[in-house]
Amino acid sequence: MNIGALEEHYKLELAPLYESDEAKTLFSLAAEQVLALSPSKLMMQKDAAVSFINMQKLFSILNDLQIGKPIQHILEEAHFYGLVFKVNENVLIPRPETEELVEWIISVCRTLSSVNSFESPKKLSILDIGTGSGCIPITLKKHLPNTQVATLDVSADAIAVAKQNARQIGVEINFITADILTFQSEEKFDIIVSNPPYIRNLEKNEMHNNVLLHEPHLALFVSDENPLIFYKAIADFAKTNLKPNGKLFFEINEFLGKETVDMLSNREFNNIELKKDMQGKDRMVRAGL
Ligand SMILES: C[S@@+](CC[C@H](N)C(=O)[O-])C[C@H]1O[C@@H](n2cnc3c(N)ncnc32)[C@H](O)[C@@H]1O
Repeated sequence: MNIGALEEHYKLELAPLYESDEAKTLFSLAAEQVLALSPSKLMMQKDAAVSFINMQKLFSILNDLQIGKPIQHILEEAHFYGLVFKVNENVLIPRPETEELVEWIISVCRTLSSVNSFESPKKLSILDIGTGSGCIPITLKKHLPNTQVATLDVSADAIAVAKQNARQIGVEINFITADILTFQSEEKFDIIVSNPPYIRNLEKNEMHNNVLLHEPHLALFVSDENPLIFYKAIADFAKTNLKPNGKLFFEINEFLGKETVDMLSNREFNNIELKKDMQGKDRMVRAGL
């Protein structure tokens, strides 16, 4: 079989699950890894024959896609903010809306680090809560090398993946394995950021099986009764562990924007800003003390 015929085969076999364009993108991601070809080379070499062994690999990826496995888990990598992260069943696949949160923090940090610093830029300290793949702290450190970045997760398996990503991408991060619901520290931070679990059980019905069956529930779900449990704990932590003029950033549940803002305002945070993502959904909050 040649590359073009394999692409058509993917489109046909994946038709019950994916639109033709999506199936084409999935084939392209699979073929890029298996055949080590850039997307443009793939396009130009549709007539090139694929060896038996590579065909077997591409069929095996197709089988996994047909049972709803996310392509990032099959290929064990995900792209985030121009970087490539290793992912597996122990970590959430980084999402595009989280890239928007990171973008916001980078721009705020650039402003903060230049304020009151006539001689040299201020060295900011950042704590990320709920590491997962490490996409937030690693990307922040990569783009803000003059910061000190720490990150925390209750899952030792997630921390192991994030450590591997930090090593691979070449950044120094302080990793902490701890439960944020009980975590205490003497350290103060300029920025505290979190994308904690925020999906209520009642929202499960709306979710695709490839998320429900393949992504870690520890990273996703909270109870219907107390959906802001992590936000409340992190806000309380931030009250004691943010430096003066420090900022708290959250990625939030699109349906709980008002509740999150009210919770912060009840805790006397100020300059609370609720921001929409590119899809027009309430997705991020920033607050100060
Ligand atoms: C929504 S995921 C976010 C992962 C990553 N920051 C991202 O944006 O892709 C939430 C993370 O919080 C972690 N987590 C869940 N409960 C926690 C707890 N009690 N203390 C600390 N981290 C927790 C999960 O293991 C998961 O990695």
